Amino acid sequence: MAALAWEESIRTGVPEIDRQHQMILERLDFLDQAIREGQGEVVIGQILTDLTEYAREHFRTEERYFEQCGYPKRDSHHQEHDRFIHDIGELYEAFDSGKTVSPDEVYAYLRNWIEQHLWVVDREYLPFLGGSAGARKQ
Ligand SMILES: [Fe+2]
Ligand SMILES: [Fe+2]
Repeated sequence: MAALAWEESIRTGVPEIDRQHQMILERLDFLDQAIREGQGEVVIGQILTDLTEYAREHFRTEERYFEQCGYPKRDSHHQEHDRFIHDIGELYEAFDSGKTVSPDEVYAYLRNWIEQHLWVVDREYLPFLGGSAGARKQ
C-alpha cells in the first residue's frame, strides 16, 4: 500500500494545523514501518498513546479556529473528532487489558480515518478560514 504522506493539497495555510497534520501522518508512517519490520506489536501501545495525545491537541486547535470563523459545519466536524478519540480509546483499552490488538487492523483503521478526514473533511473548512486570525499566512 502506498504511503500516506503530507502533501500540498492538504495544506491549510495555518502553520500550527499543518504541523499537527504532519505529526499525525508521521505516526502512521512509523506504525507502517514497524509492521514491515515485524515490530508492530512492540510499538502499538506507544502509537495509540501518541495518537490520542496528538489528536486531542490538534482537535482543540481546529475547533478553536472553527469558533473564530463561525464555521457552519463545526458540530458535525466535532462529532468526527469525537468518534476518532472514542475509537482510539477503545483500541487502547483493549490493548491495555491484554487483549490481542492487531497492528494491521489498527493501521487499516487509522489510515482510512486519516485519509477520509485530512483529505476530505478537513478540506471543507479551508474556504472559511480565510478571514480568521493566522489563516492563509504563507
Ligand atoms: Fe485536522
Ligand atoms: Fe478535523
